Amino acid sequence: MRVSALWGLLSAAALTAAHLPARNYTTHDYYAIHLASSTSPTHMATLLGLTYEGPMGALEDHHVFKAPKHDNDIVDDAVQELKRRRRKRNADPSPHPLDSIHFTQKQKIKPRHVKRNLIPERDVARASPPLDAAVMAQQAIARELHIKDPIFGEQWHIFNTKTPGNDINVTGVWMQGITGKNVTACIVDDGLDMDSEDLKDNFFAEGSYDFNDHVDLPKPMLSDDRHGTRCAGEVAAGRNNACGVGIAYDSKISGVRILSGEITDMDEALAINYELQKNDIYSCSWGPPDDGKTMQAPGLLIEKGMVTAVQEGRGGKGSIYVFAAGNGAMNEDNCNFDGYTNSIYSITVGAIDKNNLHPYYSEACSAQLVVTYSSGSGDSIHTTDVGANKCTKDHGGTSAAGPIGVGTYALVLQARPEVTWRDVQWLTVMTAVPFDQPSDWTKTTIGRMFSHQFGYGKLDAWAIVEAAKTWKLVKPQAWFYSPWMHVKKAIPQGKQGLASIFDVTQEMLKNANLERVEHITLTMNIEHQRRGDLSVELISPDGMKSHLSTTRKDDDFPEGYKDWTFMSVAHWGEKGIGKWTVIVKDTVENDKTGNFTDWKLRLWGESIDPAKAKPRPLPTANDDADHDVIDDHPAHTTSIDVPSAGPTPTSVPTDLPDRPVNAKPSVAAPAPVSSSTTAAFETPISATPTPSTTAAPENFLPSPFPTFGVSKRTQIWIYGSIILILAFCASLAVYLYLARRKRLRSSRDDYEFEVLDDMEDDEGGARTGMLNGAAAGKKGRRAKRGGELYDAFAGESDEDLLSESEDENGPYRDREEQEYDEKAAMAGGSDGGSSGSSSNERRP
Ligand SMILES: *[C@@H]1O[C@H](CO)[C@@H](O)[C@H](O)[C@H]1NC(C)=O
Ligand SMILES: *[C@@H]1O[C@H](CO)[C@@H](O)[C@H](O)[C@H]1NC(C)=O
Ligand SMILES: *[C@@H]1O[C@H](CO)[C@@H](O)[C@H](O)[C@H]1NC(C)=O
Ligand SMILES: *[C@@H]1O[C@H](CO)[C@@H](O)[C@H](O)[C@H]1NC(C)=O
Repeated sequence: MRVSALWGLLSAAALTAAHLPARNYTTHDYYAIHLASSTSPTHMATLLGLTYEGPMGALEDHHVFKAPKHDNDIVDDAVQELKRRRRKRNADPSPHPLDSIHFTQKQKIKPRHVKRNLIPERDVARASPPLDAAVMAQQAIARELHIKDPIFGEQWHIFNTKTPGNDINVTGVWMQGITGKNVTACIVDDGLDMDSEDLKDNFFAEGSYDFNDHVDLPKPMLSDDRHGTRCAGEVAAGRNNACGVGIAYDSKISGVRILSGEITDMDEALAINYELQKNDIYSCSWGPPDDGKTMQAPGLLIEKGMVTAVQEGRGGKGSIYVFAAGNGAMNEDNCNFDGYTNSIYSITVGAIDKNNLHPYYSEACSAQLVVTYSSGSGDSIHTTDVGANKCTKDHGGTSAAGPIGVGTYALVLQARPEVTWRDVQWLTVMTAVPFDQPSDWTKTTIGRMFSHQFGYGKLDAWAIVEAAKTWKLVKPQAWFYSPWMHVKKAIPQGKQGLASIFDVTQEMLKNANLERVEHITLTMNIEHQRRGDLSVELISPDGMKSHLSTTRKDDDFPEGYKDWTFMSVAHWGEKGIGKWTVIVKDTVENDKTGNFTDWKLRLWGESIDPAKAKPRPLPTANDDADHDVIDDHPAHTTSIDVPSAGPTPTSVPTDLPDRPVNAKPSVAAPAPVSSSTTAAFETPISATPTPSTTAAPENFLPSPFPTFGVSKRTQIWIYGSIILILAFCASLAVYLYLARRKRLRSSRDDYEFEVLDDMEDDEGGARTGMLNGAAAGKKGRRAKRGGELYDAFAGESDEDLLSESEDENGPYRDREEQEYDEKAAMAGGSDGGSSGSSSNERRP
């Protein structure tokens, strides 16, 4: 018994180095739990009857636990039970070991992401002949760079011989020896054929992993696992005798496989910053369905994974995320309904075709930064395919545009390794090339042209690399959060709109240490009976208009927006001071109506004083929990009806809101919640180790349990000590338990709690599966409780229990069981409110 416990601990310690053990979602449930750093995960596992699997990659103090498959959520049930007991007691909450759980999420298999490729129509008739002079120039370049790749001549996105200039303009960069050396791009996709002759020399196994089959190498296995390999070819196909070349043909390429099987938020979060010190750029040509009716954001764990990567990846300069904009334009889809493409941490890349035309599929949105070449007008991207020496002429969709961006950024990182993730976005804004296509091009405050369809224009590898060489690095990020603007008014239908204004003062931005704006995000709530009828515009103090949301003919969702966050890059470089006006329209006159509830503006940008800047706390489930906070400061918002013709609310009289809605200058300070208070419940969490019990003498584990945040080697030693301590505690507990059993009898027997001696209990097999040895006691009396609470409350004092059972409403246990049963019945597949999983309608 003790020996096996020892083995378990030792193997857990050894596993912290390598990967987590392979998941098996058929046989087990997995929990991702954020613990106070002072809490030992093995201690928590014992307390909850879980098996500790290991730390959760780069996410600090996040851990993975498993239990045999079962219906309920062991951890959330225990947390809720603690809350309930505290409410019941009405006394000041005494510390409990469960207080160290900041966040818990039982993992669910999530809907598959969609690859953003398309089967392009090839149309030879529309192909124009190559120009002789251009072909000669191309051949001269190939000779000079010793490029002998057989399809190099077809790779029009690299050097266009038919419509010169319609390419990424990279050959001049290569001539300077900038070819992606010492840079690694990671293709997060359906695999990567590392045995392909075109990829094998650049393949980087250390940065690769297969999160579908839980093996080290992301080898394509399914018949349609071609997408990742094609994307990899665009970035890093070698200069050799196979197919063509990648934009960064001397860069390293790794693959993380997530699109070919079951995946959970936890695995996606691990995948999206996998080996974040070795992989520099993550290429993501996938996302939620582009069907014109989905609205889906990454779950909280994934969002935390991305924030961690931009703060810690690349030695603190920040991992670069590139996302394909989406292929749903023909469905009136918009990349602002996709929480990956509208993240401030991702560079959203849309597509143009070889004639610089907008291809029918490429989505527009205010979060789109740039476009580059892909399929359309009868041709597509020619690159590497799965197989020893296999090529494709048919890589298309925004899937094929994203990796051209990735290759270009690899060149930027070679030319200027010290650029941060925000410098890369700045460089894109400053060097993208607007082109002569009708669109809503608008000149921004800093003199750049922006279009929702094409972002800041098309990428130009030469221009961005040249600019990177001498770019003055931006100061660290700062941000300003407005309070919630409570509008709570009906939205007029038709051409009318409902406007709400927030006035940002110089003082607010000074206090927020914010010098100039880069991204803006706007989180909002609208109740509406048909979501697709809505549109939302944001007009900045400088008069720049972002179309945050656009109408969607197929989106019948009957509940509007719930804490949905829109993003815009159209205000890049603005000061941000003055009136920000949001205008909501219900464009269709029908019986589907709605109300604009509230909104909150966040300005993200460059700090004034770098010394005062600090990293953004990791997002928590409670970040938008301050919805209804109202204070006595003067109103800064007003709601007015505006005619659709223009942003200026002139023709309609101003209509004051029902009650003053208040700005809260005090909120002007960054991030209301610090990362260390990611509470799954409201109780303040102590930063010091929590004693495992209050007054009870039969405390079975020592309170200052060893911390986990030490090096691997030290951990082995610590675990050695843990084992000794546990062995001692177990013996002590046996003693105390027997002693206590004598004391507690009859009526209060039902409130018995387990201690470590239960390892000796051989009735464990009859209990529900989630009980481990340490918790498997008291079977006869407790079985009806479903095993969900067992020893999480092992430390309850006798006094507490006594007062509970003396409660006038009768025996505590009966009520508790009843409540539990009701709760279990109601809970069903619920993930417990604190989960922040990637629900379709919520962006945490
Ligand atoms: C999970 O376990 C089941 C039962 O042992 C087994 O049949 C299945 O192949 C396993 N799946 C994986 C992915 O290992
Ligand atoms: C492309 O790169 C060259 C340098 O090789 C540069 O002179 C030129 O301006 C760039 N742009 C276009 C459209 O050719
Ligand atoms: C490659 O990158 C590493 C890490 O950024 C750096 O230490 C090293 O000097 C680079 N090597 C070259 C040849 O640029
Ligand atoms: C809008 O608010 C009104 C008044 O509070 C309410 O009766 C109506 O049901 C709300 N509409 C929606 C779609 O929630």
